[in-house]
Amino acid sequence: MKLVETVADLKCALSSLGQGTKVGLVPTMGALHGGHASLVKRSVDENDVTVVSVFVNPTQFNDKNDLKNYPRTLDADCKLLEKFGADIVFAPSVEEIYPEPDTRVFDFTPLDKVMEGVHRPGHFNGVAQVVSRLFDIVSPDRAYFGEKDFQQLAIIRELVRKCNYSIDIRPCPIVREADGLALSSRNTLLTDEGRRHAPAIHAALADSVAYAASHTVAETARFVADRIAEDGYLRLEYYEIVDGRTLQPIADWAETDYAVGCIAAYCGEIRLIDNIKYKG
Ligand code: PAF
Repeated sequence: MKLVETVADLKCALSSLGQGTKVGLVPTMGALHGGHASLVKRSVDENDVTVVSVFVNPTQFNDKNDLKNYPRTLDADCKLLEKFGADIVFAPSVEEIYPEPDTRVFDFTPLDKVMEGVHRPGHFNGVAQVVSRLFDIVSPDRAYFGEKDFQQLAIIRELVRKCNYSIDIRPCPIVREADGLALSSRNTLLTDEGRRHAPAIHAALADSVAYAASHTVAETARFVADRIAEDGYLRLEYYEIVDGRTLQPIADWAETDYAVGCIAAYCGEIRLIDNIKYKG
């Protein structure tokens, strides 16, 4: 496995690949866990060469403290990536990705006007900036993203469509701890008390699926909000039941054949997201 830190070195490594070599890209911000392992392993299975980028992208953080506190563990990440079978780790500096400030403004209306788009202004613009930069640098055949970031996945698909990238976007299912907590790099920031309460997020979502079978969309959303409130430690930021394609809130189950509930909740100081499929 090669560790490269510059665009020039990465391009050099990629240019030595024979014609027709299939390249898979797994974009990450490091602090790797089992969720990333599943993306990397899938890419290794499906491609000849797997590039994993490790880059904490400043343009997608709307909160300076969140950026400062984001875990950075490159040495441990490289050890894991070697084990997972990655071929190239691309760990650039900010200057390497953004030699000049990126002033591009993307519009993903209506996908970016709801949920994370409302609560993290500018977040998806930053994600689109870095992901398009990575797509341009690596030119992968396939790129792998986790379904935990459900809205991000929809936006990246739209980015690919709008910018005419011929890249196959491969969504990968959420990986969970035994107690249901969705794996996330942010979990390492949870206090012991936070770690005890965090699984209540998935428990509320999972229990709401059976509840939804005999209740309306609004009742189901209230069920989840009440369960989060009952926990006493978690603080709900939003819970939206949306059409999984347009991400617009639905009022009636009959409105769509693909209904997904998306949640953001604070567990102490740490903001966690998760989602659950009701239909589709
Ligand atoms: O999902 C993430 O970790 C990041 O948003 C991504 C896609 C690597 C872009 O920085």
